[in-house]
Amino acid sequence: MSALEVSDISRAFPIRNGLFARPASLRAVERVSFELPQGGTFGLVGESGSGKSTLARLILGADEPTDGEVRFGDRVFGRRTQDRHKRWRQRAVQAVLQDPFGSLDPQMSIGDIVLEPLRIQQHDFARDALQKRLDALLMQVGLPQEFRHRRPGELSGGQRQRVAIARALVLEPEILVLDEPVSALDVSIQAQVLNLLKDLQDALGLSYLLISHDLAVVAFMSSHIGVLYLGRFMEQGTRDDIVERAAHPYTLALIAASEPDALDVQADVQPISGEIPSPFAPPSGCVFHTRCPAARDICRTDAPTEQRLSETHRVTCHFPIIPQV
Ligand SMILES: Nc1ncnc2c1ncn2[C@@H]1O[C@H](COP(=O)(O)OP(=O)(O)OP(=O)(O)O)[C@@H](O)[C@H]1O
Ligand code: SF4
Ligand SMILES: [Mg+2]
Repeated sequence: MSALEVSDISRAFPIRNGLFARPASLRAVERVSFELPQGGTFGLVGESGSGKSTLARLILGADEPTDGEVRFGDRVFGRRTQDRHKRWRQRAVQAVLQDPFGSLDPQMSIGDIVLEPLRIQQHDFARDALQKRLDALLMQVGLPQEFRHRRPGELSGGQRQRVAIARALVLEPEILVLDEPVSALDVSIQAQVLNLLKDLQDALGLSYLLISHDLAVVAFMSSHIGVLYLGRFMEQGTRDDIVERAAHPYTLALIAASEPDALDVQADVQPISGEIPSPFAPPSGCVFHTRCPAARDICRTDAPTEQRLSETHRVTCHFPIIPQV
């Protein structure tokens, strides 16, 4: 059973370059499909501007796709979504974002911040029950009970991220969308927060969509991985398909660019060079051809279609690198 199924989803933003210019569009997410298994973690990795947060917003319901649909079990979100499904999503799919400082009101106490979503949804919740729920949540995320009276400014970055996690859990969600949840934290604190997220996943049976520009973070956390470039999937598969059997030149470049020790793999390719092209005018043919060390003539003219290398492993490249076994 999958917790989440995304089918052929696209998001184009209308753009106007000057008053008399013809309207054009920026295709931030282009025909993306993937499945997040129940209780699993789908890791989305890609450079800045590759469409990760746009995809997150489409899954959260903070934005609408221009095409395609998002399905949670038999609840389908597309052009005509029923209101009761929207209410379900507002509870069952919650987010933890990169910058806990920006998303936590500095004037509110930690207790009020954590309980706020519950107060908004259920006005008549008894005071005792609220306090019990708060006790349990602070304990679950490893914060001392007395923190309920503090303000976000009195906490460290890691503690603030624990508050954001407690707040995301208060409505008993089924899926967490984690958009760069540890990018703002020191490396030593990152591991603590990632381990907390893993423990919570096991204890509560949560499914995660994890977004990071850091392949080491994604490889540590994920059961499945998708590699995005300019809004398109270059490659996707199980964690091992991507980390140990990468077939796409871009995935190999990402592996080479991250610390091999952190991934525990051999990397003998050069890190990626050159700038990421403007998503407003993506390259013809394969969108990666301007930076690809393996590009040939056909790559400049013809967009590759996705091919299956195995039941789980899919790659979008004319010349995938098939590991010798
Ligand atoms: N509301 C919007 N209007 C116009 N363009 C947008 C909008 N939101 C995002 N974009 C564009 O869509 C592309 C993808 O942006 P997105 O924020 O999804 O990337 P990202 O992978 O999350 O990047 P980062 O790693 O920097 O967070 C970018 O080119 C961005 O400028
Ligand atoms: S299709 Fe061509 S340019 Fe694109 S990744 Fe494959 S080899 Fe490189
Ligand atoms: Mg982002």
